[in-house]
Amino acid sequence: MKKLLFTLFLVSLSATAAHAGLKVIGKGDNMRLDPASFPPQMKANYEIVRVKCVKCHTLERTIVAVQTGVAPISGQPFDRNATKAYGVKMLRKPDSNMSKPEVKASVDLLNYLLSEAER
Ligand code: HEC
Repeated sequence: MKKLLFTLFLVSLSATAAHAGLKVIGKGDNMRLDPASFPPQMKANYEIVRVKCVKCHTLERTIVAVQTGVAPISGQPFDRNATKAYGVKMLRKPDSNMSKPEVKASVDLLNYLLSEAER
């Protein structure tokens, strides 16, 4: 019986891992990601996004884009082919206060998140 319970426990663990997708915490303006399972480089990139990409709007806009595959304001596709263009667009905004390496880090993170969201 103990063995069976343990097997069931393992099965349920792997089932949650397989459908993990993105771990989103909070709602609306407080929406953010749980970076606990990110690889170290992506944790560092997330720190940049968490600080730099919330100057003009909250993270919700970015998270919704990744989750739905649609950019919420323009309705344009938000996929791996588009992330760089969105990054550059944000960089070029007046007072974006971002450097090119920071935008590159953000785009890398967006691509990572898109592949995680698909799982
Ligand atoms: C200087 C202000 C500013 C900063 C900094 C900024 N954004 Fe934006 N963002 C905007 C504005 C304004 C819009 C409204 C739509 C547009 O102009 O693209 C927007 C729209 C968006 C959209 C939706 C685009 C669409 O077409 O629907 C996403 C996704 C996004 N931002 C992500 C980010 C990310 C990721 C970062 C950090 C790399 C970031 N933003 C930094 C101002 C900013």
